[in-house]
Amino acid sequence: MSRFVVPYAGVSNELGADEVAAVTRALGQQTLSMGPLGRQFEDGFAEMLGARHAQATSSCTTALFLAAQTLRLEAGDEVITTPQTFWVTTWPLQARGCTIRFADIDPDSLNIDPASVAALITPRTKSIWVVHHGGRAVDMDPIMALAREHGLTVVEDCAHAPGATYKGRKVGTIGDIGCFSFHSLKNMTTGEGGAFVTNDDDIAGKARELGTIHTWGPLVDRQSDRIGPYGQPAYYRDPHVRSAFTKSYRDNRYLIGNNYRMSEVAAALGLAQLGKLDRLNKRRQEIARHLDDGLAGTPGITVQRERSEAPSIYHLYTIFYDEAVVGRSKDDFIKLLEQVEGIEIVLRYFPIHLLPEFRALGHEFGECPVAEQTYFERQVQLPIYTQLTDAQIGHLIGGVQRTVEALSGSRT
Ligand SMILES: Cc1ncc(COP(=O)(O)O)c(C=O)c1O
Repeated sequence: MSRFVVPYAGVSNELGADEVAAVTRALGQQTLSMGPLGRQFEDGFAEMLGARHAQATSSCTTALFLAAQTLRLEAGDEVITTPQTFWVTTWPLQARGCTIRFADIDPDSLNIDPASVAALITPRTKSIWVVHHGGRAVDMDPIMALAREHGLTVVEDCAHAPGATYKGRKVGTIGDIGCFSFHSLKNMTTGEGGAFVTNDDDIAGKARELGTIHTWGPLVDRQSDRIGPYGQPAYYRDPHVRSAFTKSYRDNRYLIGNNYRMSEVAAALGLAQLGKLDRLNKRRQEIARHLDDGLAGTPGITVQRERSEAPSIYHLYTIFYDEAVVGRSKDDFIKLLEQVEGIEIVLRYFPIHLLPEFRALGHEFGECPVAEQTYFERQVQLPIYTQLTDAQIGHLIGGVQRTVEALSGSRT
């Protein structure tokens, strides 16, 4: 049992009889790896998005690695992204030696600010990586216009946003690649899991090659590829490694694959969850409306503006706290919410340009003033998940109101 009246999260995807039946059926299959359910899940996910290709992966992290690799982002390439994200968005880029440039954010949506992106473009810029923060779509039109003008690729980190739309289009299908997460706290889950989505046939083909350990290319010229005096090493006949010494493989080393695959059990879970995604997202939207209505008029508290062209699916529910109105710091507000009201608060996300590895590269406080001020002074995420009870929703509203009242009465 949680010590909180409203814990930050649980497994938040209403796992039930459908999931149990789906997983049980999967366990009866001949294989739990690379079987029919993975393909079915991919087809279903692509269809839900209106995308040409979806590839199931072991996580959003591995989908992001595939994105960096298929786009061949290399050392010295500059990639522009947002600091308001889970740091793993940039990890595949760091791992490949790319230079990360941090654009600032919009103070309401917490999404990357296209004007700030424009100011960072240089001749070395290769790609823009956006994150649909909390399930609210980035303003994609100006981002895509910049990409077209400067010949840049666009990757959408959709970890929070399966089914979210921008001007009627599902996010993840607007840029070159969309990467999704099905971690157990996300709007739909496969336990751990992700998806790599693209409308580009060439990118999709490369991702298939790279997402699995494979024998690359045709088995050409075996005779001349023998090593030194050796005839045929025993492992040469193993279908998994037999092309390891072909010329094709050597010439295409950048295309060496990895194991980023999703298991059949996870895919079964994903198929059951996919069938409920719309309902799960709508329930989050309904909870958000209750919270918006309940918190309206609370002094010092504002909620995010709803934009009709980009309705949020509320992976996160963010409120903004105004220290000048309440008279005490945001830290005091959070402390009371947790200690007196039993509302567990987790802030998402610490501006990642201030993490030690980026500070070591010269990034510093002041680089993204809106992201910094918003994170340190204003933003608070309240718990949101589909199983919140009416009593818990009421407690969130009452808890925020009581806390503001208590703090206002004890100005220092
Ligand atoms: C914005 C963002 N990107 C990527 C990820 C990584 O997802 P996964 O845990 O599936 O690797 C997360 C996880 O929380 C995230 O919030």
